Amino acid sequence: MKLKRVLAIETSCDETSAAVIENGTEQLSNVVASQIKSHQRFGGVVPEVASRHHVEQMTLVMEAALLEAGTSYDELDAIAVTEGPGLVGALLIGVNAAKAVAYAHNLPLIPVNHIIGHIYANQLVQPLRFPLLSLVVSGGHTELVYMKQAGQYEVIGETRDDAAGEAYDKVGRVLGVPYPGGKHIDEMAHHGNDTFHFPRAMMQDDTNDFSFSGLKSSFINTVHNAQQKGEVLDKNDLAASFQAAVVEVLVNKTIRCAKERKVKQIVLAGGVAANKGLREALTAATSEELTEVELIIPPLSLCGDNAAMIGAAAFTESIEPDQLDLTLNAKPGLSL
Ligand code: KG4
Ligand code: ZN
Repeated sequence: MKLKRVLAIETSCDETSAAVIENGTEQLSNVVASQIKSHQRFGGVVPEVASRHHVEQMTLVMEAALLEAGTSYDELDAIAVTEGPGLVGALLIGVNAAKAVAYAHNLPLIPVNHIIGHIYANQLVQPLRFPLLSLVVSGGHTELVYMKQAGQYEVIGETRDDAAGEAYDKVGRVLGVPYPGGKHIDEMAHHGNDTFHFPRAMMQDDTNDFSFSGLKSSFINTVHNAQQKGEVLDKNDLAASFQAAVVEVLVNKTIRCAKERKVKQIVLAGGVAANKGLREALTAATSEELTEVELIIPPLSLCGDNAAMIGAAAFTESIEPDQLDLTLNAKPGLSL
């Protein structure tokens, strides 16, 4: 069945989102209700709070997405929804809302993997060309995904401990910036210099894997040692030094893998793709070292969690007109 217009739903973490996507490439609407303010006072996402917000927001967000797109259920071909990975309670709200509207309006239901969604956010910017390499960097994931062709996902590198976004958020707590810290550290980094030279974990090793826990510990030790001696360290320099270490390793390994696999495109994906330092460094390295390779970087609105990317990814699935699995469940640990 050929899809034309899809309503997509995303509730895997702390954003309630719905979007209408046409032909897998055109975004008619992308409504995102963020809950960040409710989680900030706890310094991280509280799963129960997230679920309650999703319950309150879900219907409103779906209606807003249809209204903004100037469409209605009658004009849709399918409902797409994030089935995992993510927080189980949060995912369940989206999955059940999707099942309900698909059943009520007799529409096929397409379950989508959140990570594939992040990669396909780029399809809303430019057509994907294979083979490609995607650097997926978010609060929960740090992966290098090689796609020989559409529908084939090979994880060729991943973090052995913290995800890049997670490391940003933990370091943010030490620097006293609001959750999530990534954006704030990025800002501060642009007013500082890499004076601390934190370790670049496993950068020269053969592995494509990453590790950020050593960097995080080194950062925390530096701050604590200074506190004990009564020294005051420049927070902007600390942020710039941390960011330099993260970005250098991410860019270095991405470029190396792209060369080895002779890809046509590099696509950046996930919340940390919003990082200015990473965007600049990857752009510079690609144009210097891989002149034939096209780099796609999503606009900021498509970096963090959103339903437009889920809608874009849904178009890669081949589906049946009567496809409606009402036993569909949340899959919190879903992998690629
Ligand atoms: O993809 P996302 O919205 O949620 C997950 O699927 O995890 O990613 C959220 C992560 C958070 O850790 C946040 O601190 C990070 O993305 N982030 C950033 C920036 N903006 C968001 N990290 C570094 N620099 C940024 N500008
Ligand atoms: Zn995400």
